[in-house]
Amino acid sequence: MDSISSRIHQVNPSLTLAVTNQAKAMAARGEEVYGLAGGEPEIDTPEHIKAAAMVALQEGRTKYTPSGGIPELRQALVDKLAADNGLDYDAKQICVTAGAKMACFNAILAIVEEGDEVIIPSPYWVSYPEMVRLAGGKPVIVETKESDGWKLTAEQFEAAMTPATKMVILNSPSNPTGAVYTEEELRAIGEVALYEDIVILSDEIYEKLTYGDAKHVSIASLSDELYNLTVTVNGFSKAYSMTGWRLGYTAAPKPIAEAIDKIQNHTVSNATSFAQYAGVAALQGDQGFLSDLRAEYDVRRQFVFERLKGIHNIRVVEPQGAFYFFVYTGQLGIKSQNLCDKLISRYKVAAVPGIAFGYDDGIRLSYCTTLDVLNEGLTRFEQFCREH
Ligand SMILES: Cc1ncc(COP(=O)(O)O)c(C=O)c1O
Repeated sequence: MDSISSRIHQVNPSLTLAVTNQAKAMAARGEEVYGLAGGEPEIDTPEHIKAAAMVALQEGRTKYTPSGGIPELRQALVDKLAADNGLDYDAKQICVTAGAKMACFNAILAIVEEGDEVIIPSPYWVSYPEMVRLAGGKPVIVETKESDGWKLTAEQFEAAMTPATKMVILNSPSNPTGAVYTEEELRAIGEVALYEDIVILSDEIYEKLTYGDAKHVSIASLSDELYNLTVTVNGFSKAYSMTGWRLGYTAAPKPIAEAIDKIQNHTVSNATSFAQYAGVAALQGDQGFLSDLRAEYDVRRQFVFERLKGIHNIRVVEPQGAFYFFVYTGQLGIKSQNLCDKLISRYKVAAVPGIAFGYDDGIRLSYCTTLDVLNEGLTRFEQFCREH
């Protein structure tokens, strides 16, 4: 008897986690491996943030917290959203969750009903379609073009809409492409969403990692109407190097925030108590870490871009945010999974196949690793491209 629910049968495991785990296991066995697959900063969490968690533990902050988060953190997030994003929320509209991943899932579960369609631009972050399926919805994948900088256009969005469309998911800066939407692009997409009251899930987890002239814009800040249709998702993993802490949040119009709070009530109860105190320290402490982190990634980004531009048979759009390159590999004539299998087994380079992001003619290379690893990994990738 197959006792697993049909909902779970439709869901695929995370290929990004599979590749990173494979690379970590190889490294643990002492095997040579150049990890360009990871999705987490290799830099440790800043000391003052760790210290705040230790103080919280020593002070006995070890009990359940309100499901939406401790008041101090919700207020710190209200202040952050006002100062950084031009967004005016009150604390009740914030729900602190166990990571931005859970924030996305809570938002989807709160909005999507059986059979509802959710528009997801591809290449997309691996978990969006699976979360939509888990909620009983139908992911509608809209392939973006390299020539549009891998960004959904308002025209594409409009063309994909049907009477069943309930939500669109935007992720700027994007994983896996590093694309950053401009204010004009967001306004155009927002107009289409407003026309049919489509809820916007705006995943802004890479907000702090933009480079050059690129500027992060929160779509909810563009008008009152868009504010009322948008769930903003963000978290501490990427900006503060806090992936293992599991700390993220949603900021939403009141009715959606209340729905999300109900989900929290009956599932996780609350994000880890002492991690929330660390979150307060992250937001209120010295932000110098962020500019150092961004500067460091920018050096790597430019290094990788120069190297990739010199490799034949591939193409790449310069990413403006996050810490990834999405490399077009269609000219190599090998599907992405096969390509990545060969890359890791023969060349010892871990990369994520584009198929994980709904785009089979590309791979994702991440630069959240040292310049030495990047250098050797890219030399090997270049060799691979020469030999194929
Ligand atoms: C686009 C995007 N959203 C959300 C997440 C989840 O972040 P968190 O670690 O806060 O759950 C990730 C992590 O890789 C991501 O890339």
